[in-house]
Amino acid sequence: MSQQYKIAVLPGDGIGPEVMAEAMKVLDAVESRFSVRFERTFANVGGIAIDRDGKALPEKTIAVCRESDAILFGSVGGPKWESLPPDEQPERGALLPLRKIFGLFCNLRPAIIFPALTGNSSLKTEVIEGGFDLLVVRELTGGIYFSQPKGIEGQGAERTGFDTMRYSEVEVERIAHVAFQAARKRVGKVCSIDKANVLSTSVVWREVVERVGKEYADVELTHMYVDNAAMQLCRWPKQFDVMLCGNLFGDILSDEAAMLTGSLGMLPSASLAEGSFGLFEPSGGSAPDIAGQGVANPIAQILSAGMMLRYSLGLTEAADAIDRAVEAVLDAGFRTADIYQGLEGETKTDTSGMGDAIVA
Ligand code: NAI
Ligand code: MG
Repeated sequence: MSQQYKIAVLPGDGIGPEVMAEAMKVLDAVESRFSVRFERTFANVGGIAIDRDGKALPEKTIAVCRESDAILFGSVGGPKWESLPPDEQPERGALLPLRKIFGLFCNLRPAIIFPALTGNSSLKTEVIEGGFDLLVVRELTGGIYFSQPKGIEGQGAERTGFDTMRYSEVEVERIAHVAFQAARKRVGKVCSIDKANVLSTSVVWREVVERVGKEYADVELTHMYVDNAAMQLCRWPKQFDVMLCGNLFGDILSDEAAMLTGSLGMLPSASLAEGSFGLFEPSGGSAPDIAGQGVANPIAQILSAGMMLRYSLGLTEAADAIDRAVEAVLDAGFRTADIYQGLEGETKTDTSGMGDAIVA
């Protein structure tokens, strides 16, 4: 009997359905090679859900997610829905509630440069030769974005905007465990990012991370101030394995790290709850500029499916196989338009061509 998993598949808008179709082919391939079955239930989310069901996150979609072991999410949004009130728009109306409903407190954003693609980065070749692979672990439901009080008060020149930054020991502890466990499945290094010379939240952050680190004697722990980390990412990204960050610092550093790779269409992400449940989606958006043309790069969606196998379903071997297949296809020169440079040895392909090559 093969192991069964239930997956909620939410393709969304724009290129979402196009790249999701390729991820489905890859899951089919995993089924035929490993003894697993993915029972997939498709549901509407984002703009298409607004059009068909009246809101970005319909009840029946939430119900499908609740009954599943993980959510595989495409991308949402597009010009058609931009005039709606902010809270009803595809992104805010779907992703924020999903994070809240499912307690997705942890965001994993890998920044990977595959050896074959070093020419696509904004960094000098000698800095990234051989590629790099780092993982930003970002706390997603605490810190300055959510702490109270916050607001705007007063009038005229005295009018003041204020935010509060709080981190409790429990919040730091649970995200620290995620970072150390992720490091164990990787190179085994955690660099914790803070501003402990100025911020009280960072003093607590550093103490708790240090304490949790004692439980992971096999993982090397270092600490770095966030301003230095921003600099070190550009200077020598290969020094990092796992970067552990609070909400604000992680938001900024994960975007910086993603841009170093020079190819948004390649980067997956995971948002995890306590236990094994999670939502997996490409780091980029719905790319309305290229939607409907069959040219989008499906790799971010396929690697997101791989992260789902790794982090929610515990299928490490199959996840490794997906990562290796992507690397092999890039080494063989297959390129969608976004990563095609016209170099010798490159073969230009489209969305389904890339998916087929990875499956093969
Ligand atoms: P975007 O990520 O959709 O596009 C930025 C640029 O990257 C575009 O030129 C696009 O063609 C390119 N790109 C992105 N993914 C690609 C892929 N797989 N293959 C090839 N090229 C790719 O970001 P943008 O333009 O800021 O937003 C477009 C829409 O997506 C908006 O409605 C926005 O709200 C939504 N969005 C949704 C997200 C989500 O669903 N989590 C995240 C970010 C944006
Ligand atoms: Mg951001």
